[in-house]
Amino acid sequence: MQKNKVLVTGGTGYIGSHTVVELQNNGFEVVIVDNLSNSDIKVVDRIQKISGKRPAFENFDLCDAKKTKDFFKKHSDIKAVVHFAAYKAVGESVLNPLKYYHNNLVALINLLHAMGENNVSNFVFSSSCTVYGQPDELPVTESSPIKEANSPYGYTKQVSEKIIRDTTSANNFFKAIALRYFNPIGAHESALIGELPLGVPNNLVPFITQTAIGLREQLSVFGNDYNTPDGTCIRDYIHVVDLAKSHVIAIKRLLQNNNIKDFEFFNIGTGKGNSVLEVINAFEKVSEQKLNYKITNKREGDVEKIYADTKYANSELGWKAEKTIDDALLSAWNWEMYYRNNLENKK
Ligand code: UFG
Repeated sequence: MQKNKVLVTGGTGYIGSHTVVELQNNGFEVVIVDNLSNSDIKVVDRIQKISGKRPAFENFDLCDAKKTKDFFKKHSDIKAVVHFAAYKAVGESVLNPLKYYHNNLVALINLLHAMGENNVSNFVFSSSCTVYGQPDELPVTESSPIKEANSPYGYTKQVSEKIIRDTTSANNFFKAIALRYFNPIGAHESALIGELPLGVPNNLVPFITQTAIGLREQLSVFGNDYNTPDGTCIRDYIHVVDLAKSHVIAIKRLLQNNNIKDFEFFNIGTGKGNSVLEVINAFEKVSEQKLNYKITNKREGDVEKIYADTKYANSELGWKAEKTIDDALLSAWNWEMYYRNNLENKK
């Protein structure tokens, strides 16, 4: 039987690479498009090592409309697209908003244009809980209001969802699912792929693992006088492999096309909130490392607490997070150690 071919943009990135593994494990043929602006080509070899299959790979920038169109002409058998390729650093987006608006929105528009021209009608979009801002009520459901975005990055996710929604409304044949991720952490159990930020990490867990391994001197905990039980911010931390699996389910749902709405969106989280100090304690326990950290000033733009209501994803998609925060933190630590000891300086 011919395999369904799926384009994964940003497929060498953190969530993208884990999703490519899961798609291949589920019998999909994958072609990755990535401009390697925040990832390493060696990830393709590692995906092959894990899944026994090598995804096709093309290096170009989706902001190039001609290259994007030419790509779809060449791969006329693509059945669905999972779109990850985007910038994602919140702080950088505040300093350089045009970089974010240009990259994240132009790439999306080029992709949707080229899909339309080639009758590719199934689209999964990498969205974020950032679209909710600071919700009034927790846990946040899919019908919670979309508040003003806290950053240009967050606004690109809101606008992208709107662009996709309008595109599905205007084209009967086009269907899309936006997955609103909470905080992805952890790594594949093989420790061959994981989160690999360039330079100083912005996100909590890579900062923790880099501090534990000695690359950073000390973790700063951004504020301990929030209105939460221990004063530190609360997030819903989800294992990246659980997250990756939700994309496989979304793609299957689109391809089966059994009377689903043209545009759907789901919260992809665990439903459980953990504070920064709880994450640190859990990390110290599973890694048996003592972490050097101090409480510092709040980080501008941080929401105080957010975690998902996942009932809709559980019932409609039949998807549920299976791994615990301990699993995720241990896998992140194993990845950090394996990467630094075995992969970093290898050709
Ligand atoms: N934090 C620290 N110290 C750090 C880094 C983070 O205390 O060195 C705290 C933050 O204040 C926050 C929590 O850890 O309370 C999580 O912060 P992250 O930076 O890991 O993640 P965010 O919740 O800020 O999420 C943001 C965006 C998401 C995006 C995600 C990954 O809101 O949309 O970063 O890029 F997906």
